[in-house]
Amino acid sequence: MCRPSLNLTIVLLGFTILCAPLYCESGVDGWLRYYSLQTEAPALPKLIAIVGNGVILRSAAMELSSALGQGNSKAGQIAGIPPKDAFVLGRWKDVRALFPELRSSRAPTGDGFYLKTVARRGAKYWLIVGADDRGVLYGTFAFLDRIAQRKDVSALDDSQSPSSPIRWVSQWDNLDGSIERGYAGRSIFFEGGTVRPDLTRAARYARLLASVGINGCAVNNVNADPRILRPEFLSQLARVADAFRPWGVRLALSVDLGSPMSAGGLNTFDPIDPQVVTWWKKTVDGIYQQIPDLAGFVIKADSEGRSGPSQYDRSAADAANVMARALRRHRGVLMYRAFVYDHHLDWRDRKADRAKAAFDYFHALDGKFDDNVVLQIKYGPMDFQVREPASPLFGAMRQTNEAIEIQVTQEYTGQQRHLCFLVPMWKEILDFDMHVNGPTPLKQVVSGKVWHRPLSGYNAVVNVGDDQDWLGHPLAMANLYGFGRLAWNPELSSEQIAEEWTRMTFGNDARVVKTISAMLLSSWRIYESYTGPLGAGTLTDILGSHYGPGVVSSEQNGWGQWHRADAHGIGMDRTIATGTGFIGQYSPPVQKLYEPLTECPDELLLFMHHVPYTYVLHSGKTVIQHVYDSHYEGAEQAAELAVQWESLRGMIDDERYADVLKHLRYQAGHAIVWRDAVVNWFYQTSGIADAPGRVGHNPNRIEAKDMQLNGYVPVDVTPWETASGGRAIACNRQKSCSASLRFDRDGEKYDISIEYFDQSTGISRYEVLVDERKVDSWLADNHLPSDKMDGNTSTRRMISGVSLARGDIVTIVGYPDGGEPAPLDYIEFHKVGANSPAEDRNGFGHWNQPCD
Ligand code: GCU
Repeated sequence: MCRPSLNLTIVLLGFTILCAPLYCESGVDGWLRYYSLQTEAPALPKLIAIVGNGVILRSAAMELSSALGQGNSKAGQIAGIPPKDAFVLGRWKDVRALFPELRSSRAPTGDGFYLKTVARRGAKYWLIVGADDRGVLYGTFAFLDRIAQRKDVSALDDSQSPSSPIRWVSQWDNLDGSIERGYAGRSIFFEGGTVRPDLTRAARYARLLASVGINGCAVNNVNADPRILRPEFLSQLARVADAFRPWGVRLALSVDLGSPMSAGGLNTFDPIDPQVVTWWKKTVDGIYQQIPDLAGFVIKADSEGRSGPSQYDRSAADAANVMARALRRHRGVLMYRAFVYDHHLDWRDRKADRAKAAFDYFHALDGKFDDNVVLQIKYGPMDFQVREPASPLFGAMRQTNEAIEIQVTQEYTGQQRHLCFLVPMWKEILDFDMHVNGPTPLKQVVSGKVWHRPLSGYNAVVNVGDDQDWLGHPLAMANLYGFGRLAWNPELSSEQIAEEWTRMTFGNDARVVKTISAMLLSSWRIYESYTGPLGAGTLTDILGSHYGPGVVSSEQNGWGQWHRADAHGIGMDRTIATGTGFIGQYSPPVQKLYEPLTECPDELLLFMHHVPYTYVLHSGKTVIQHVYDSHYEGAEQAAELAVQWESLRGMIDDERYADVLKHLRYQAGHAIVWRDAVVNWFYQTSGIADAPGRVGHNPNRIEAKDMQLNGYVPVDVTPWETASGGRAIACNRQKSCSASLRFDRDGEKYDISIEYFDQSTGISRYEVLVDERKVDSWLADNHLPSDKMDGNTSTRRMISGVSLARGDIVTIVGYPDGGEPAPLDYIEFHKVGANSPAEDRNGFGHWNQPCD
């Protein structure tokens, strides 16, 4: 038998068992905490033999060594199989040469791995075998993950291969260090127009990505700065590629189609102009000289004001192919984004429909793209909404490689200030049957299996930042983990992913696992229910932050995210019969699901149909009552999330316990802002009352403008629905203002809620006094995305268990700062323990104890 020439490196593990965790729980290691690993180590070999010597293999060995051994590692070389128990790490063909008993039917493919235990001459071997070096690394992580989840690793026989070759993430980082739609600090790659000198975090990010099988990362904004391709920038980018390489993550770049002009000095960027063809070829060759493993380019063209081939009357295929041909000989890939639409649509035209744009534009180009072009399609036809149908384009491109684009960064789903675990949503999309080739779940389209495409896969916009915990909310990391797991294997269930992540991130205590998994799994539907119901869209501030409520902001403008709500009804009529015809872009079986009003699932009703508010859903409720009920229930459930978390007090380390609790309490308050804005808007617009009479009826609320004001003045808030009664009070004095009231209820303990606006312009201070007694004070120092009083900044402060007597004077003193006029909206009193109406209980865990 022909044996490969082997280069066996032995890493000797010295085990130091730590009795107590010494971790600082900053979240920097994400789910790779390896908290319980060392206790398992004594049963495992103390040797690691690497067959081969690539940089990725060395990362795998060092990961194993540091996870299990806590230092004292030594490296050496030997010439054969170690004589005693060992890990053996290497590629299939190399390891099989040593262990011919491995069955070829178990050979992994792509970047896959095979974990196998083998006994030989009294010794036992844990084989971590990869189809390639990346596979060895992924197998190593999979092995460690098992231990972290307390799974048995004494007898292994597990062969796994990824569903698709392209498993990328994208960062929308700008060269100045800001991040478009990033909610966790500044770029870990760029600052001040250059690549950061210290790329330690870039390497750590790559390690996290590798641990869930991600193999590519586009580091700059899709709204690409042409400077990225300047020759002087390339050596800087090469440093990023160097930081990624040990983890098998290949660098990718977002590029601007106009680069031949803007970066190259040509007088055209017409994709079929010979000068342009030559420019791309030379430029790409130059890049590969410095970054030989560049994964490829991502391109956004003819979209939201970006340059595009339409400027020369050329097609997307012309544009894609010129770059793809330059990339091909280096085995680079061109990801062409299908997010192409006219953002100057005529909103008066009932047939105009942004949802149709991608299909209309691309389906005629099927078969015209080169084999190393991949069409990158957002999961829904609009724009990362909380609920959308699967994009019909996925079913229309039989001769084109396709990838699905999703967002880990929660642009429209709470921006990491709200908990929203998106895996269940992605699963619904991936499982959706496009019915184009018999049963055609979308996940099989994007694995290239349906039409036997050479390339296919996944790209998620992640936008981690320099916040210690990467995404700004400790629980948001479950989305990054979940994305990687689904890209590897879309058959995994949401439940399994939630449980795996929780075990690795917070440990294996049964109650902890159950509680956090349940919180994660319920959170998307909760978020949906207090934001945008029945497929209407997120009802958010479309023209600005995409965060807080702003029901009409999407209407009467060219962006096309319309919900068409008026006095009589709501929803976009996208039917073939009377509407925009969007439904006709699906295959006939899917048309049958969406076109008849009676068949259309409730959760997408308003995406597909325009109906009167009195239309009765499958649930038996009218549309308007559903809007009311879902918002009250959703806000209540959001409050419940904080209570669930509080049940884990003492079972989670203090740092993360406090951090998560702070986020959940904020979310509970902001869910009420959402609830009130949406229900009040629909009540006023439709004139239809809420059956239980909750809307417009807040018995425990006193408007700030109705209090005794000293210095404060009433102001109108825009949009009106984001302040109670449309008005707030602002302090335009230099020092302070106050608002007081005489408490005229029975003496008892009360939870007090104060609604104020935390604008980005300053850090106002507030104090609450009962008679002369100070019961609370706080700073409006959250980083919220608006400098105005609106649904983005409206924030709830809750003070629990304050003793009040009839006749007490309750005073709120506001100290303005930096242009923020210590604004106030209202105050509410809820008797502690009273059987209060549902809204009264929202958010009341027992926090912000009074100072007395
Ligand atoms: C959304 C997002 C933009 C982004 C665009 C895109 O519209 O708000 O910031 O540039 O998507 O995906 O290109």
